[in-house]
Amino acid sequence: MEHETTDSRNNARLAILELANMISVPMSLNAVVRLNVADAIWQGGANTPLSASQILARIAPSGAGDPETLQRVLRVLSSYGVFAEHLNDADSSERKYSLTETGKTLATDSQGLSYAPYVLQHYQDALMRAWPLMHEMIVDSTSMPFVKANGEEAYCYYGKKPEMNELMLKAMSGISVPFMKAILHGYNGFDGVKRLVDVGGSTGDCLRMILQKYPSIVEGINFDLPEVVAKAPSIPGVTHVGGDMFKSIPGGDAIFMKWILTTWTDERCKLIMETCFKALPVGGKLIACEPVLPEKTDDSQRTRALLEGDIFVMTIYGGKHRTEQQFKQLGLSAGFPNFKPFYVDYFYTVLEFQK
Ligand SMILES: C[S@@+](CC[C@H](N)C(=O)[O-])C[C@H]1O[C@@H](n2cnc3c(N)ncnc32)[C@H](O)[C@@H]1O
Repeated sequence: MEHETTDSRNNARLAILELANMISVPMSLNAVVRLNVADAIWQGGANTPLSASQILARIAPSGAGDPETLQRVLRVLSSYGVFAEHLNDADSSERKYSLTETGKTLATDSQGLSYAPYVLQHYQDALMRAWPLMHEMIVDSTSMPFVKANGEEAYCYYGKKPEMNELMLKAMSGISVPFMKAILHGYNGFDGVKRLVDVGGSTGDCLRMILQKYPSIVEGINFDLPEVVAKAPSIPGVTHVGGDMFKSIPGGDAIFMKWILTTWTDERCKLIMETCFKALPVGGKLIACEPVLPEKTDDSQRTRALLEGDIFVMTIYGGKHRTEQQFKQLGLSAGFPNFKPFYVDYFYTVLEFQK
């Protein structure tokens, strides 16, 4: 038995204390996003280091706030690289904060976009209610935490709550626009396509960007649930069509689909892909963009982001992140004989399934 005070025992205790208290990190992140701290510091690119009192004066001018509480939250998030902490050598009690590269992803850009709505989307009450029930689905595969907590599946639930629906739209736009820049730069699989259908296309942002780069695409169909397309903005060249991808999908010579398969079980993915197969001509491509899990588990930031995302979709949607092989098998099960992955982005992989 190792001695109780060896470094390795002490490090192990620290590691488990850190994990046990880890909830403080996302909850602090949620708090600063709710209070719009990133925009208060960013100020159109100034990013001047500010004290907690100065930030508080910008986000809560009533004067009722507590700078010390804000500073405690900023300190923990500085430790996780969201803020940079600037200490005053002459006065150790004075701390100022600016945004790091990570923190800047939360500041609203010139297009009105950021990753902030994606953060907020995760911590809505209905989603939070599902988390304490996660252990139940390990021992009972029929138990769905979100359904158990809220009485119905997530997308049906969002559809009935306009504020959740709108937050989802904003969250998707904030993530999709930077990703689409990467895919349009590194992947040329839209060459020759004339009619492109985006299945689960949300606001139609992805289609808008694809059509801007490929004027040869004469028609873009943004297909999503009726309540979602009802809120989508009008986009030149894009027709919004409401429907259910499990029943039928408008025909096109290629189908684009981003961040869809990940939120569904294998059985439901097979159904979606079979509907896509039917909507495509022979040789037509289903171009899916999904996070792809590495085979090997490690502690890199990318692997962690992918594994954490896997647990999120498992708990909220009953979906899963998959490996390349698992995607290939899914394609084969729905009838697609050809499969090719393209690693063009830090998070998503383009998966081409050809009929
Ligand atoms: C994770 S979001 C991805 C949105 C978009 N593709 C993107 O990446 O920005 C999943 C989308 O699937 C849509 N969706 C869910 N169930 C659907 C169904 N049965 N038929 C069509 N779309 C559906 C949701 O409304 C949502 O817009």
